Amino acid sequence: MSVSGLSRLRRTGSVRDLVAQTRISPSDIILPYFVVEGQNIKEPIPSMPGVFHFSIDLMLEDIELRKGIGAVLLFGIADKKDEAGSEAYSPEGIVQRATRAIKNKFKDLVVVTDVCLCGYTANGHCCYFINGKKDLNKTLEALSETALSLAEAGADLVAPSAMMDGQVKSIRKKLDENGLDDTGILAYSAKYASSFYGPFRDALDSAPQFGDRKTYQMDFRNADEAMREIRQDIIEGSDIVMVKPALSYLDIIYRAKNEFEVPVAAYNVSGEYTMIKNFANGDREVEKKLALEVLTSIKRAGADLIISYFGNDIVEWTGSK
Ligand code: PBG
Ligand code: ZN
Repeated sequence: MSVSGLSRLRRTGSVRDLVAQTRISPSDIILPYFVVEGQNIKEPIPSMPGVFHFSIDLMLEDIELRKGIGAVLLFGIADKKDEAGSEAYSPEGIVQRATRAIKNKFKDLVVVTDVCLCGYTANGHCCYFINGKKDLNKTLEALSETALSLAEAGADLVAPSAMMDGQVKSIRKKLDENGLDDTGILAYSAKYASSFYGPFRDALDSAPQFGDRKTYQMDFRNADEAMREIRQDIIEGSDIVMVKPALSYLDIIYRAKNEFEVPVAAYNVSGEYTMIKNFANGDREVEKKLALEVLTSIKRAGADLIISYFGNDIVEWTGSK
């Protein structure tokens, strides 16, 4: 018996590298930042080991260390939350200022901004309610205003995550009417109602104060529905579509990549991140191996881009741009 071709291709590390089909590069990773008011703040987020709340000044310093990363995704922690979530669309809101600061310092870094109300509304929901019923029109108006103010601040891509019907259409319309036709939309198209968002909601202090998000986020028992959501977002003008979470939804990523011709992003969410952190329990080597295995599986399934909190380590781990 002689060895098979398969074994020959596994023989040494360099041969394995030569024929490897899937690679993780920092340039296809989007790294989230949680931005807070104030100065000189880099505060660990208890629910997400290795992730911090940053004030704008220290966020800029941190970004400096991550050169080569594809993009950053900004979330703001509002100092004041109100019924209308008005900090979301204020031109002087925290994310609007953070965006301007980044674009000032790092001209070429792609800035993506989350567009939702849950971090800013007093009740922690992604939409407005009137007498317990979702007020879609008012919500769409607020989401479009939010997207507009972020685009004006310099965001390259706005990322609506509220799962409100027609959100991409209203945002596209609002941007175009204001001459911001260059600003792209990365829609959270297939966003499932998931328990993997728990640590993030602590980080953003955005847990819903009543009920849950099942009336607007997807039921994880369904797959076809995700294709309908994605198709609809593409029709409405989304330039990139997203599947979220990633790891329990690799089948959805795979289908999306095969069914549509737009870039597919996957969000490796907070709970998926902390699972690995907790499992590795401080062993950085274990953490690196697990993270690279997971991120590679997401790419192998078909994701072109990955939003990941491991983005903070990926430049070091992959050792290149
Ligand atoms: C806000 C939003 C959420 C996440 C991203 N944008 C939370 C939610 O929908 O409850 C979750 C990200 C993560 O868990 O890492 N709409
Ligand atoms: Zn939301």
